[in-house]
Amino acid sequence: MRAVDVIARKRDGAELSTEEINFFIKSFTEGTTPDYQAAAWLMAVYLRGMSRRETIDLTMAMVHSGEVLNLSDVLPVSVDKHSSGGVGDKTSLIVLPLVAACGVPVAKMSGRGLGFSGGTLDKLEAIKGYRVALTQDEFREHARKYGIVLAGQSARLAPADGRLYALRDVTATVSSLPLIASSIMSKKIAAGADAIVLDVKVGLGAFMTHIDEAKQLARLMVDIGEGVGRRVVALLSDMNQPLGCAVGNALEVAEAVECLHGQGPADLREHCLAVAAHMLRLARKDNSEYAMAECMAEAAKNLDNGQAFEKFRVLVQAQGGDVSMVDDPARLPKANIIETLTATQSGYVAQLNALQVGMASVDLGAGRERKEDNIDHAVGVVVHKKVGDAITVGEPTFTLHANDRARLEQARRRLDNTIVYSAHPTAPLPTFYDIIGAQ
Ligand code: URA
Repeated sequence: MRAVDVIARKRDGAELSTEEINFFIKSFTEGTTPDYQAAAWLMAVYLRGMSRRETIDLTMAMVHSGEVLNLSDVLPVSVDKHSSGGVGDKTSLIVLPLVAACGVPVAKMSGRGLGFSGGTLDKLEAIKGYRVALTQDEFREHARKYGIVLAGQSARLAPADGRLYALRDVTATVSSLPLIASSIMSKKIAAGADAIVLDVKVGLGAFMTHIDEAKQLARLMVDIGEGVGRRVVALLSDMNQPLGCAVGNALEVAEAVECLHGQGPADLREHCLAVAAHMLRLARKDNSEYAMAECMAEAAKNLDNGQAFEKFRVLVQAQGGDVSMVDDPARLPKANIIETLTATQSGYVAQLNALQVGMASVDLGAGRERKEDNIDHAVGVVVHKKVGDAITVGEPTFTLHANDRARLEQARRRLDNTIVYSAHPTAPLPTFYDIIGAQ
C-alpha cells in the first residue's frame, strides 16, 4: 500500500477501508509517511469528510498508535469526563472529588489551557507543590489507594493524535467533525475509559458556536464510543458566558473550593451536579430516570455534607499540594493590583461574551498565547453579573486581578465594551441545551 494512493482516494471522495486507515496512521506514527503527506491527507479528509465507520476506524487506529491503559485491576469501572474547553470551566476540580465521594473511584488525565480556553492542570498547579506529572505506576497506585487521581495526559497515549493535531493546527484543518471527534475519543479510549461523560460546550467562548454543529459533534462522539463498546453520554452546555464567576487559575481553585463547600455560583453548582450524576449513572449501568434523580440527590448530599471537599483534600495531599491553600483559599497566589470595572448603563445584561472574558484573562497572563508561554497563576477576571441580571449604572461588572499595569490596561480595554445592555428584561442562559446518548 502507498500513502499517495490513500490520499488520492480520499481526495476523490472514496470511503477508505479499515486497512487503508490503519496503514496510514501506522506508517505516519512510525515515520515512514512524512508530515507533508499527512497534511495533504488531513486536507482531503477535511474537504471530503468521513463516514461513521471510517471515523471509528480512525479513532481506533489512533488509540493503537501508542499504549492503551487498562485500569481494571485498580478501578471496578473507569468513568471519565471530557470538556470541549471553555472559559471559567473548573468542573473537573469539583466533579472528580464529588464522584469519588459518592463511592465511585476516579482516575483522570487532563490537559493544559491554550488561548482563551483554560486547562485543569494549570488550575491545579496554582496550588503550591501539586504534582501533575505522575508515572504510570504512581497514577495506578493513587487510583487504588486514594480512589482519586488527577494528573497530566501521558504522551505515550494516542501519540498519532498529538502529531496529527500539531499538523492540523498549521494547515487549517482543525474544525472538521470527524477529525475532532476521533481526536477526543481516541485519547479517552486510550486512557482506559469504560464510560465517558462528554461536556460539549456551545457558544461564543466555545469551539462550537452553533448548537446544530455541537449536536452533530456530540452525536458522532457518542456513536464512536458506543461503536467500540463504551457507555457514553454527551451534555450540550452553554459557553456564551463564563461558567461560574471566576476566570483565572487561583481564582478558579478558590471558586471550586466554595462549590465544594456547597456554596458558590448557582450555574456552576447545577453544572457540576449534572455531570457528576451522569458519571455515577454510567458507572452503575443504570439508565433509568429514577437512577438519574437518585444520582443527583446523592451528588447534592455529598457536596453539601463536606464529603466532596474531603476527597479534594485527599487528592491535593496525595499529589504533594499544599493543603492549607484549599483549607484557606486566601493563601492561594494573589495578584498585586485589583481593580473593579463598573456598569456604564442601567438595564439588564443581554450578553457577556465568554470569548472576550477569556481573552482578557489571557491579556492579564492567566493563559497562554503559545504552548511554550509561562502563565501567572494569580491573575484573572471575576465576573459580577450574568446574562439576565438587572444592572444599575456604577455597579461592579468585572474585577481584574493583575500583576502588571500594561496588561491590566489591555484587559480593561477589552472588557470596556463587552457587556451588551438591554433596556428590557432578558432571560438567563440555560446551563444545558440538550443531552445526547445513554437515555
Ligand atoms: N480537542 C481535542 O482533543 N482535539 C480536537 O481536535 C479538538 C479539541
